[in-house]
Amino acid sequence: MADPQQFDVVVIGGGPGGYIAAIRAAQLGFATACIDDWTRAGDKPALGGTCTNVGCIPSKALLQSSENFAHAGHAFADHGIRIEGLSMDVAKMLARKDKVVAQNNDGIAYLFKKNRIASFHGRGAFAGKDGDRWRITIEGPGATTITGRHVIVATGSVPRALPGVAFDNVRVLDNAGALAIPDVPKRLGVVGAGVVGLEMGSVWRRLGSDVTMLEALPSFLGAADEAVAKEAQKAFAKQGIAIVLGAKIGAVRVGDDQVTVEYTDAGGATQSAKFDRLIVSIGRAPNTAGLGAETVGLKLDARGFIDVDDECRTSLKDVWAIGDVVRGPMLAHKAEDEGVAVAERIAGQHGHVDFNTIPWVIYTSPEIAWVGKTERQLKQDGVAYRAGTFPFSANGRARALGDTTGFVKILADARTDRILGMHVIGPQASELIAEGVVAMEFGASSEDIARICHAHPTLSEVTREAALAVDKRTLNL
Ligand code: FAD
Ligand code: NAI
Repeated sequence: MADPQQFDVVVIGGGPGGYIAAIRAAQLGFATACIDDWTRAGDKPALGGTCTNVGCIPSKALLQSSENFAHAGHAFADHGIRIEGLSMDVAKMLARKDKVVAQNNDGIAYLFKKNRIASFHGRGAFAGKDGDRWRITIEGPGATTITGRHVIVATGSVPRALPGVAFDNVRVLDNAGALAIPDVPKRLGVVGAGVVGLEMGSVWRRLGSDVTMLEALPSFLGAADEAVAKEAQKAFAKQGIAIVLGAKIGAVRVGDDQVTVEYTDAGGATQSAKFDRLIVSIGRAPNTAGLGAETVGLKLDARGFIDVDDECRTSLKDVWAIGDVVRGPMLAHKAEDEGVAVAERIAGQHGHVDFNTIPWVIYTSPEIAWVGKTERQLKQDGVAYRAGTFPFSANGRARALGDTTGFVKILADARTDRILGMHVIGPQASELIAEGVVAMEFGASSEDIARICHAHPTLSEVTREAALAVDKRTLNL
């Protein structure tokens, strides 16, 4: 048998963590391979992982389609636009989503070619070591063995199921099933009012489903700033999304055409609800199945994540791990930034990811975004701070858009005025948050943002006014 093909860097997993790590490694001059097993129709590779295939990208495509439908049905009339006979072609919406996904798959394949990255389609597993090189077997259509001086594991995560309730993606849906419901369910149940639940629940609510979310925790959106969570809960209730907090799920019975969920409510009473489809979105688990971790003694932590230090080094020499399969937020941009940092560390550079400035975005309507600390965290940490809040209802651009829900809140250190957190609920929160991230990365004060010229009329003026509000000197309120 011929000697295995040799690479400087082998990346296992072609999601946002893995494919970006591979590109950066190739840019730095390393002979780089990336192994990924995601497959689309015709047994073709589908690079991009969860994010591209059944996560960030398809969910945003459906959020856009359903928001367009909701606007056409409810908001356009205000602009004097009359629409008669409005209807939704779900099959077309899903086909458009699939096309957007395929464009992204192909885009990554192009980037691999451009950067001369060897792309292997199949499942990669550690098989042992040849001297200072890791041996990786690839199972799949083109089964082979390769070796890498360094290995970056970026195998991502998989959805968690309710105990004893398997996903069939017909009645009980994971994220992939939630993105491919063939018709608008009359009654849609969602277990877990987290990020996936809120985004996917919003899609199908806008298209006409009665949506009920069953959330185990007694409070809503615990990771967000309390004022933001409160405003969001109000907005979702107004849209007709029923959110049941403190729900303890009991028996789940899956029938031919419906799912019955028994649960205990916050008051301790037993309840029963029937749904046409049930999305289960109760978090995700690290994906290390079939990786051969045990073959080479790659250490996992108590929760099954690959154990890494602050710089993504695993327990094994020259083996690194990044993204959803390691500790930290399960976000595509966190995975990407870890990928870049690790490639740079392999090259002897000083790659860096600042966990304090990773933005969070929930792409509902209103959008929700934040970076840095919440008021609750600052109080817990005993940090003296000043808060400035400004509502979109006092902003000309938001009024012209017809979207005045929500506000921007800036939290600054009471002594130094350094920005410690920014929280946005409202139109384009996903884009506005970038200003807060930049400000925090540069150690800016709220006074800095208040003094920067912001174009008029823009939503970003709300950020400036929130910064002015920290010093109690808003100009437009
Ligand atoms: P993944 O994207 O999971 O990629 C891992 C890849 O490795 C997969 O292709 C997998 O098949 C492959 N693989 C696994 N094991 C092997 C093996 N042994 N050999 C070969 N290949 C293997 N995050 C955001 O930041 N913004 C969003 O808007 C957003 N929306 C989301 C919406 C949904 C519905 C979901 C479920 C998630 C969303 N996320 C979002 C989270 C985001 O998708 C993940 O954080 C991100 O994909 C993690 O990237 P990763 O590279 O670590 O892993
Ligand atoms: P999540 O952690 O955001 O939410 C899970 C929710 O389910 C929590 O509120 C939790 O309290 C609840 N829960 C857990 N067990 C439960 C049970 N037995 N019964 C009822 N409720 C229960 O996880 P989710 O929504 O599955 O998403 C997974 C990850 O994917 C997220 O953590 C996020 O990092 C990522 N993601 C990011 C998006 C974005 O950035 N816009 C969009 C979607 C997902």
